[in-house]
Amino acid sequence: MTSQTLREARKYEETYEKRISKEERPAFHLSTRVGWLNDPNGFSYYEGKYHLFYQYHPYDPYWGPMHWGHAVSEDLLHWEYLPAALAPDQVYDQDGCFSGSAIALPDGRQLLMYTGVKRIPQEDGEFCDEQTQCLAVGDGLDYEKYEKNPVLDGKDIPEGCSKEDFRDPKMWKNEDGTYTCAVANRAKDGSGQILLYTSQNGFDWKFKSVLSANNNRFGLMWECPDFFKLDGKWVLLTSPQDMLPEGFEYHNGNGTLCLTGDYDEETDTFTEQDNHSIDYGIDFYAPQTILTPDGRRVMIAWMQNWDTSRLHPRETRWFGQMTLPRELSIKNGRLHQAPIRELEELRCNKVEYKDVVFSDIIKLDGVEGRKIDMEIQIAPGDEDNLYKKFAVRFAQNNRYHTSVSFRPYESILKVDRKFSGSRRAAIHQRRSQVRSENGKIKLRMILDRFSAEIFINDGEQVMTITMYTDQAADGISFFADGSVKLDVVKYDLIEG
Ligand code: FRU
Repeated sequence: MTSQTLREARKYEETYEKRISKEERPAFHLSTRVGWLNDPNGFSYYEGKYHLFYQYHPYDPYWGPMHWGHAVSEDLLHWEYLPAALAPDQVYDQDGCFSGSAIALPDGRQLLMYTGVKRIPQEDGEFCDEQTQCLAVGDGLDYEKYEKNPVLDGKDIPEGCSKEDFRDPKMWKNEDGTYTCAVANRAKDGSGQILLYTSQNGFDWKFKSVLSANNNRFGLMWECPDFFKLDGKWVLLTSPQDMLPEGFEYHNGNGTLCLTGDYDEETDTFTEQDNHSIDYGIDFYAPQTILTPDGRRVMIAWMQNWDTSRLHPRETRWFGQMTLPRELSIKNGRLHQAPIRELEELRCNKVEYKDVVFSDIIKLDGVEGRKIDMEIQIAPGDEDNLYKKFAVRFAQNNRYHTSVSFRPYESILKVDRKFSGSRRAAIHQRRSQVRSENGKIKLRMILDRFSAEIFINDGEQVMTITMYTDQAADGISFFADGSVKLDVVKYDLIEG
């Protein structure tokens, strides 16, 4: 039975999405149907389609009681909205259906696991969250909440650990047909830890182990875990809140963390070998991955930063978009990311330049646009005299621009959206240490109307930003202080 709360949300989204024109949205990044979107949820493949749910507050462009929005796609680029899947309509989730995941059951049904949130008033007038893990079962369109919810609650948490911060279950099916899920929690020391639970049937869950503990190293609470094996390494992705920057890592406050290492099957614990940020730009949080039917590990994330997520005008009808889905691999213990290969199908109007040597500001015929896939390679124009700085300015007209600049002596790449049209003194710049030898660097820039994702050196690092610049600003120019040799291959990306 669909509850009144869900029916209202479904009616609302159907009515109000019509007020958002196609041109007001990103072309090939999933945005909220209406209102607000944060984390990707339930990223899964079910009955021939990719399903992506998301943290959703349909009624205004700000975070509120969380629903699950729902969209499906065949290529991860063209999305079709389905009616909202979950609404906060039960006692145990009355204050929100928080993040979670999805799997296909052997009987053909789809199983969603999410965090139910209930705010409990305290004697001192404050509120305290009770977070529990809950299930809903459905057919890819409609979902029934499980009558025995919650399936994991305070009783299933190790002694002394937080019952208030216990959320974001990521489930997967094991080779032997059993299920595991990783849930974010806070240990006795107040910092994040990831708990593992197992189930024979997807419905009855029991505690297995503490997979990994923060020990107050990386931020405080760890949100939205994901755990998988890739290229011979075990990978734990998580989004820590309140991170302290370390060198050029972890500059985002609520940031992202990739730990690579080993998994001990005897103790069900993870041993870390390497740690680094997942994305080095400004807008990236709460990633979730899927193993595609053809064996690719693909990650998608909320393309936003919590610290800047309240700065948009109230009149905006939608706020919140996902990153491009990215194919993951591990090389030398580090996460590499590439835009999903399906993106190549959207390419048209190829423009190519080779060995353009310049030392001032240039524009290149045909190199412009706000929905593009552009690869550039830079090398010194004069082998004996290394240039000082190179920059690409994009989303540009005489008033606005956003830039990516590179200083070879420091080997630092910087994104800067100060002049993108923002009227707020929020964070607009991010610098990252990158690998380059003798002033050579390779960048692939994917622009969609309101974002830029910059893949550095074949996806060794990525810098992601959103920018809400007027679409008429579609110029691109190149700047060099010193002599730079530039190769460019640029495509327009067609809209779905
Ligand atoms: C991460 C997060 C999750 C939570 C959800 C609530 O962005 O805080 O931990 O489930 O958002 O919307």
